[in-house]
Amino acid sequence: MSAVEQEPQQTEYMPYSLRPMLPDDTKAVAEIEMEAFPTTWPPTPFRKELSNRLARYLVSYVPTEDADLPEAPESVVDISKPDSLLKRMLQGVWPRIGLGSRRVDYQDLRLDFIPGFVGMWFMADEAHITAIAVLETHQRRGIGELLLIGCIELAILRNADVVTLEVRVSNTLAQGLYKKYGFEIVGSRKKYYTDNKEDALIMTTGKIQEAEYQRELHKKIALHEVRWGFSERVLTTPTSGA
Ligand SMILES: CC(C)(COP(=O)(O)OP(=O)(O)OC[C@H]1O[C@@H](n2cnc3c(N)ncnc32)[C@H](O)[C@@H]1OP(=O)(O)O)[C@@H](O)C(=O)NCCC(=O)NCCS
Repeated sequence: MSAVEQEPQQTEYMPYSLRPMLPDDTKAVAEIEMEAFPTTWPPTPFRKELSNRLARYLVSYVPTEDADLPEAPESVVDISKPDSLLKRMLQGVWPRIGLGSRRVDYQDLRLDFIPGFVGMWFMADEAHITAIAVLETHQRRGIGELLLIGCIELAILRNADVVTLEVRVSNTLAQGLYKKYGFEIVGSRKKYYTDNKEDALIMTTGKIQEAEYQRELHKKIALHEVRWGFSERVLTTPTSGA
């Protein structure tokens, strides 16, 4: 077959998709928050946040049967053993399962696996990212970037002018991610973080409704797709509108 006749290359889907956070996800999201931001106190009341008209949360998810989880030793596992890794995993990943001295059929556990989330507040013309985090075990797989892409797309959909956030001065890794999507440092807040009195940098995108920003965004999304595969992104629930 000549090069001209060859089938176009099928671009793969990445294993992680994006959708709004649902009540069943809130425990897993709380676990991610605890891991990523251990000094956040009080913890964010994610379930309550679901009815906050100003807030929106997106999660990256993998249907549990496709998730890259430790294998269960048998098809039926005993989760009553105290402190077992599996028990902690089940508590984090399948929050609906009560833990006690009973046996659970591993194969029947079908809640989605949630490796990351992003939270936003919409105020006036601004979309403010309140938190973005990926489980340590799943970092560096393009999920953080996927969450940020979803966030900016949702902000565009909701007619926000800019996306803003605060980030620790020391968190150069996250700053790298934001800079990639056109965020620039526009100021700082002294001793913003109460745990160690660290300063926060304020970072803001350019005008996201402008064609130039959106052109650059689409280029970045295309590069993400080439690198990690296509992603399914559902940004709104039928009831939430945009
Ligand atoms: C920041 C965070 C969400 C990134 O998630 P992730 O899934 O690992 O990110 P991705 O794999 O999509 O990487 C996207 C970009 O982030 C930056 N980045 C992520 N991990 C990095 C690392 N270990 N070193 C340097 N840059 C890194 C890079 O710019 C990277 O782009 P590149 O791959 O083209 O270099 C994740 O590290 C995290 O949850 N950290 C703890 C919580 C946190 O600090 N949140 C930000 C608070 S403001």
